[in-house]
Amino acid sequence: MSAQRMALNQPKDFSFSAAAEKEIDMWVAKYPADRQRSALIPALWIAQKDAGGWLPEVAMRAVADKLSMAYIRVYEVATFYTMYNLSPVGEHFIQLCGTTPCWLRGSDDLKAVMKRRIGGQNTITADGKLSWLEVECLGACSNAPMIQISNAAGDHYYEDLTAESFDALLDKLVAGEQPAQGPQNTRHTSEPEGGATVLIDASIYKQGRKLTKLPNQAKKLEIVRHAGASKAAPVKAGKPKAATKPKAKTSPKPKVVNAPKAAAKPTPKVLYTDGPTDGTPDDLKVIKGIGPVFEGELNSKGIYYYRQIGAWKAADVKMVEGEALARFPGRIKRDDWVKQAKTLAKAVAKAAAKGV
Ligand code: FES
Repeated sequence: MSAQRMALNQPKDFSFSAAAEKEIDMWVAKYPADRQRSALIPALWIAQKDAGGWLPEVAMRAVADKLSMAYIRVYEVATFYTMYNLSPVGEHFIQLCGTTPCWLRGSDDLKAVMKRRIGGQNTITADGKLSWLEVECLGACSNAPMIQISNAAGDHYYEDLTAESFDALLDKLVAGEQPAQGPQNTRHTSEPEGGATVLIDASIYKQGRKLTKLPNQAKKLEIVRHAGASKAAPVKAGKPKAATKPKAKTSPKPKVVNAPKAAAKPTPKVLYTDGPTDGTPDDLKVIKGIGPVFEGELNSKGIYYYRQIGAWKAADVKMVEGEALARFPGRIKRDDWVKQAKTLAKAVAKAAAKGV
């Protein structure tokens, strides 16, 4: 919690610019009619920008009037958060993070630079260019030590600073330049210095995955519905073994040749005959909505490939939900597995055609 005090010298008037008013209206419109005070935080922030980087009391009152709030309620919020400046700031307002990671990495050195060049906190330099404040963690700890500079160009982070690079940065600001934001050493964002050391194999970012082989495409693409869903479509009906089995001997009637065995099998859980033995199974978890559990359920029903899911019709979806995902009705449609799978299947086929 901060203990901010309002500046002694306060302007007499304040009115929102048309742009600020419009922006506040946009925030207010996000809330129900009787909850519009919920827009207080952004409204104060916008008012602060509109007033030149700090919040005079008249601006707080204007916000309170706009949100139909008691003035004291607005003061309570404005005096609590350090994001609101209750006294004027420099053209370039610097917020220095002094929290542990930044402190361990040298924020005291940066503080010393500011004390030397600007003076104590909330002091504005004689030319009106610089002022600073120490604040708590700004969420860029991996690039400690860091500061935020707010000015007419916006609010920007400057990270991985040293006393020297910070000094040079202040020189640029005073000279009227806007230094490039981000790390002030050789780092790219928060990668290690010198570049990334992990996840550097470009191929892992390619869509789809390597298939060792795609033998017999036509056979693989054939999706056979289980006899339980359609008795007229016996599983593996074309296999010659069933026709040549000596069982036919016991029956003088030639009518039933290849159906009885399959029909008699009490294993109605396999939905498709396509299996992982004819190629590397696809990673179904790539499909949004499918996690390891769902993938296991689907695999146990003989579903291993994007192309299988991509070929589902409404009846298939219903059947799969009944067999494998009974506890999650509507999940397949809601996450649109079929469309996702179609796209992935295309990518896999394309990669296979290229021999990737
Ligand atoms: S500790 Fe400084 S940004 Fe988090």
